[in-house]
This record gives sequence, structure tokens and C-alpha cells, in this order.
Amino acid sequence: MFDIGVGTGIVAAELTARGHVVYGIDLSSGMLARALDRLGPRVAVADACRLPVRTASVSQAVSTWPLHTGPDRGRVFDEVARTLRPGGRCPVIPAGGTRPTDDVGVVVGELEDRLDPGRTRQDGPWTLAPVAEARGLVYRGTASERPTTFRVSPRATADSLAGGLFRGAWSVTGEGIRLVDEARERLVSLPDPDVPPCAGDVRLRHGVREAVKRVVQPRPRRAAA
Ligand SMILES: C[S@@+](CC[C@H](N)C(=O)[O-])C[C@H]1O[C@@H](n2cnc3c(N)ncnc32)[C@H](O)[C@@H]1O
Repeated sequence: MFDIGVGTGIVAAELTARGHVVYGIDLSSGMLARALDRLGPRVAVADACRLPVRTASVSQAVSTWPLHTGPDRGRVFDEVARTLRPGGRCPVIPAGGTRPTDDVGVVVGELEDRLDPGRTRQDGPWTLAPVAEARGLVYRGTASERPTTFRVSPRATADSLAGGLFRGAWSVTGEGIRLVDEARERLVSLPDPDVPPCAGDVRLRHGVREAVKRVVQPRPRRAAA
């Protein structure tokens, strides 16, 4: 199995634990230092746009979360098409396949769309499938995408936006900076900006809290007889 953008090897290690022999490449030697610990000498520094493997030599590739970070998707899928054997497969796990629907996710999703109205930077199936199919690959559809929920608070997400998170490797200037600032303000204006919405929907969480508060509220005391 060949992991394109193996990173620290966390996914590859799990696949290895399930009996697969996984090789991986990544651009970042820092990430690969960790992957080396996890996978042993089966990893190499290489560009996904120029895979260091022979044509039609890979029966099973996998790629988790590299395609939103900036590589030229056309060139990556050129390489996937070149290196896969006939009948070979390459599941791609996108970073933005399923958007969180909680209040933090809505703000971040809207920001992503405003910064990238053509959705060319996003790595969901709507963006990737046409690129892959243009290279003779067959898109088989999505599998078991679970709705996700932000596990960090609105304020921490706002701080991460200031630090560049969710913009990938693309620099943001001018109007983009204004859009990021606006999203940050929306985040810190949410109710309970220091509480992660990980219990599902923020409105639900507030609803539950209100209900619990009502249940545990002490009954009004009767006036002493
Ligand atoms: C978000 S990390 C995901 C890592 C790993 N797949 C995982 O799930 O933990 C994205 C990885 O893609 C790598 N990457 C980005 N562009 C690449 C390219 N052109 N060639 C190879 N690796 C690349 C980055 O170095 C980084 O390790």
C-alpha cells in the first residue's frame, strides 16, 4: 500500500496494525521523522506531483488530507493514474469532505467559501472527482462520511484563523484579511465562546443546558407556616 502525503504516519501505522505493508512519501522531512519511528524505513521525501514509483506498479494507494494544503491536484492525479495498476484504487480522505454543521463550523465553512468562491482549493469530492476523472480514473463515490463537529472553542478557532488555519498554504491579502477578521469577530460573539461545540449542535447544547438548569433549579420555598 502506498500512502501519498503520509505525514507523521498516523494513518499508515493504523493500516500497518491491520496487516498491510505501507510505504509512504511526503514533502516534509520533519513529518517523516515521526513516520520513520512509526513505520520504519518505508518512507521517503518526495513530491506527490512526482511519485518515485514505477508506472502501473501500485495496486492500493491512499491519501489522507494532503490535497487541501496546496499541491497541484491535476499533477497529483496524473501521478495516481500513472502509478496505479489496472484495477488499482486510491481512496482519498479529504480534509473538507464533510463540513461541521455546528455554529463554529458554519462560520469557518462560510469563510472558506468566501476566500475561495470557485472552491478550487477545497478537497471535497465536488472538486476532486472531475480532476480525477479527467485523467481516466473512475470516481466511485463517497464512503461513510460522518458529520463532524468542532472540538475547539469558538475563541480558540478565532485564534487559529489569525494564525493561518483553514487557509492552507495560500496567503491571504487585502479583502481576504477583512473576511478572516469578520469571521473571527463572529466566532468570539457566539454564546459561550470558550466552550467547544463538541456535544453536537451549539443550539442543541444551549437547549440542553437550559433544560438541565430548569430541572435542577430549586423549587420556590413555601412560606413558613
Ligand atoms: C494534514 S497533513 C496529513 C498527513 C497524514 N496523511 C495524516 O493523515 O496524518 C498533510 C501532509 O501532506 C503533505 N504534503 C503536502 N503537499 C505535498 C506534496 N506535494 N507532496 C507530498 N506531500 C505533501 C504535507 O507535508 C503534510 O505532511
